[in-house]
Amino acid sequence: MVADSKTKKFAVMGHPIRHSKSPMIHRDFADQFGLDINYETIDVEPGTFAQTVRDFQASGASGCNVTVPYKIDAFEIADVRSERAQRAGAANTLIFDDQDRICADNTDGVGLLRDITHNLQVPLENKRILILGAGGAVRGIVPSLLSKQPMLLVIANRTAARAREIAARFEDEGTILAGGYEVVSGAGFDVIINATAASMEGEIPPIPERCLTSKTLAYDLMYSDKPTPFMLWARMQGASKVTDGLGMLVEQAAESFYLWHGRRPETLSVMTTLRPSL
Ligand code: ATR
Repeated sequence: MVADSKTKKFAVMGHPIRHSKSPMIHRDFADQFGLDINYETIDVEPGTFAQTVRDFQASGASGCNVTVPYKIDAFEIADVRSERAQRAGAANTLIFDDQDRICADNTDGVGLLRDITHNLQVPLENKRILILGAGGAVRGIVPSLLSKQPMLLVIANRTAARAREIAARFEDEGTILAGGYEVVSGAGFDVIINATAASMEGEIPPIPERCLTSKTLAYDLMYSDKPTPFMLWARMQGASKVTDGLGMLVEQAAESFYLWHGRRPETLSVMTTLRPSL
């Protein structure tokens, strides 16, 4: 499609970014509404994020998605920040408004929630949830998970202090237990979310075995063409509901699309087309 003056410009910025599926997802969403968009990937060298965003805005772009490792920088450079972004202290979506302002939002938490509760049909109210890891991704998802009023949220991380820091940030919003992996005691979490980068290294975090039952939803925020080490571990332990983060990726994109275009795209067909391309 040849870009003309009506073509709205978007991008996803990160480092590395070459394998991002966001351009494919947003083009598919745009096709659903006959919208003319240009969505590219921008590999941002460390130290150049703020300038890259400003240059992109000055070029007439309408907004961008932001991924690892720039979600905190995206939050910090914004002129206006949504409540969701403020609570996470990080942003994955920037909107360039007609007053030349950079507005930051965070759609990661809503994306995960929609995948778990709507697509996978797993309710979270009054449930026991375990999060493994305490990096940037966790700050984005904790407020959304707590909004469903689980009975207990446990955050376990290799570096205990990082888990405790996140718990302190959200302690007014629910019951959170946080620390090293030794805080995971007792059997039977309803949902276990792997938010560590361990899968990227072909490893699994040191999860106590009894924390999973046959009814547990085991959810890896990572996605790839084959099951992650965490997913294989969960299946070995007998979990029947095991998934990667492709659904969250598509759902967070759908929410960003809504912020930019005011329309809600259909997501399930996109997930089906995307899976073989991983
Ligand atoms: P993101 O923004 O994607 O969450 P991050 O901030 O770098 O990325 O966080 C990565 C998370 O994976 C951290 O919780 C990290 O644990 P530490 O805080 O102790 O560094 C965790 N992690 C990375 N590799 C791991 C491994 N091999 N085993 C367990 N946890 C791991």
